[in-house]
Amino acid sequence: MSKPITKAVIPAAGLGTRMLPIAKAVPKEMLPIVDRPALSYLVEEAVASGITDILIITGRGKGAIEDYFDYSPEYDQKLLASGKSALVDELHAICNAANISFIRQKETRGLGHAVACARAFVGDDPFVVMYGDDIIFSEVPATKQLMDAYARYGLGAAAVKAVPDELVCKYCSLKAEPIPGSDRDWHVTDMIEKPRPEQIWTNLSILGRVLLPPDIFDILGQTPPGAGGEIQLTDAMRTLARRDGMTAVDFEGERFDLGSKLGLMMANVTRAAVHPEIGAEFRAFLREFAAKL
Ligand code: UTP
Repeated sequence: MSKPITKAVIPAAGLGTRMLPIAKAVPKEMLPIVDRPALSYLVEEAVASGITDILIITGRGKGAIEDYFDYSPEYDQKLLASGKSALVDELHAICNAANISFIRQKETRGLGHAVACARAFVGDDPFVVMYGDDIIFSEVPATKQLMDAYARYGLGAAAVKAVPDELVCKYCSLKAEPIPGSDRDWHVTDMIEKPRPEQIWTNLSILGRVLLPPDIFDILGQTPPGAGGEIQLTDAMRTLARRDGMTAVDFEGERFDLGSKLGLMMANVTRAAVHPEIGAEFRAFLREFAAKL
């Protein structure tokens, strides 16, 4: 029986240069999808998957993240005075959804370096990494899909999609074979971050979620800076995949990269169109707007 997975790490310390100028003053992980920040959706996904403990990796200028997951007595007082106690309960539920803690990555030396900051929190347990700017809307939470794959094969797992050639070169390429008898699972034996066209094995790229054994920390400790001079999580996972193999799960769900302007806008339109409060009006607006395009 594999160990139950109860811990998630959300790296959210990156500078977000693709989201300048707003990223100078607002962490990209706090940019709203309708009325809630990206991070809120990630925490919800984690909790719906059975995660109880979450470590968010933050950095300088990212204080808004901690404020969002803390009580706000000024709002509570005001809302209670006007009889809106249900809203107060809703705000408190955000803070109490899981045991949420924070640590700072003091220098933005890459995703691998950010994950390495979680070593003490993770201890000896397998854990999930949820990239702080990647949202996946799905019926079965994407994190749960990885946990199920871990239960099936006992290996580290990555959420993947087949992406167009030009994107593989920006993300990563996996050396992988489909697992017989499964529609969505692949066995991975190698991977490369930001491959040149001649280095592409498959168009499967890792998008937003991975589940890792705790050995990844020793591997990260020996992983030199890679693409862009940063310590790349993919480089450490490559060592893991070559040594033990990993599972790639072609996840069910719609994924948005909120670290990009286009991804942020697409996520907002998608959610606004089904939002219980504004959905109907927004859809009417969209129809009118689209007719003029
Ligand atoms: P990205 O590569 O998308 O973040 O990392 P970035 O470096 O902020 O992006 P750009 O290219 O400058 O726009 C994916 C996740 O990893 C976090 C980011 O905050 C994001 O949520 N990250 C990245 C860290 O926590 N620390 C880092 O050093 C780098």
